[in-house]
Amino acid sequence: MSARHRVFVTRELPGDGFAALRDDPEFDLEVWPEDVPPSREALLQGVSGVDGLVCLITDTVDEVVLDAAGAQLRVVSQMAVGVDNVDVAACSKRGIPVGNTPGVLTETTADMAWALILASARRVVEAAEYVKDGEWKTWTPTQMAGIDVHGATLGVIGFGAIGQAIARRAQGFGMRVLCWNRTQRTAEAAAVGAEQRPFDEVLSRSDFVSVSVALTDDTRGLMDATAFEQMHPGSILINTARGPIVDEEALVDALKRGHLGGAGLDVTAVEPLSMDSPLLTMDNVVVLPHIGSASMATRSKMADIAVANLRAGLAGRPLPHSVAVAVGR
Ligand code: GLV
Repeated sequence: MSARHRVFVTRELPGDGFAALRDDPEFDLEVWPEDVPPSREALLQGVSGVDGLVCLITDTVDEVVLDAAGAQLRVVSQMAVGVDNVDVAACSKRGIPVGNTPGVLTETTADMAWALILASARRVVEAAEYVKDGEWKTWTPTQMAGIDVHGATLGVIGFGAIGQAIARRAQGFGMRVLCWNRTQRTAEAAAVGAEQRPFDEVLSRSDFVSVSVALTDDTRGLMDATAFEQMHPGSILINTARGPIVDEEALVDALKRGHLGGAGLDVTAVEPLSMDSPLLTMDNVVVLPHIGSASMATRSKMADIAVANLRAGLAGRPLPHSVAVAVGR
């Protein structure tokens, strides 16, 4: 029998694929047992000498981690679609493929963008807290009155699979949908009743601007003070992508001045968000703990793909889903 594959997994994972991996005699698995991520030291120690690494968005996988793992490392399998925490270029240089888990989380994440659109527009979280705090004394004509979602204009920034799924849902609300994408997506836009327009125009014409671009050097800070100034007064920002796409200081400023009407954020620049953040003091801001893809079904499917990517990488086969092509192995 060939040597067992040594694998470090940075958290317990759901799903049948992971359960089967645990029982597979060909694998020697070390699973980080805590809910909080391994510290840098624990990660460096955990990866030492492994053939495969299964990681999450909370783990920084850079040159130092790759060095600590050693030259025998054959695959990095991330349980997420975004891989901005992984130095993909460094992995590619070493011929290590990087797996990710696209597709299965598209609809679940679009659902969450919509939860935030509705919650922000109709003050759902604020109103629920009002009831819990015993503030509900009567019914008044303007109590907890928000803004209408139906008939409004939705701007989708980034028109990949998730952006398209967010746009598709807007048809049911009778909304006009504008979208912006770095590359041409005219046909995809038309298919969901949206119109591809320049970035500035999407911002200035939309009542809700929903961000769904990947985090790259080009999109870091894409939603900055200038972008917020272009959004029209009272409009609402939704972010289910990555926190650093939004300049949080500029967002706080635009909200404090009353220029923006609110924000629904599933992600923040630093996660978890500091309890000192001014965002947590604002009634018109809903912050969630990065749970866009968090249905049990979807998280299990993501874990299954991460395991399939791991197995393929260790067997020297192309990964079912990867963001880098292995060279030189
Ligand atoms: C989660 O944020 C993911 O990228 O899958």
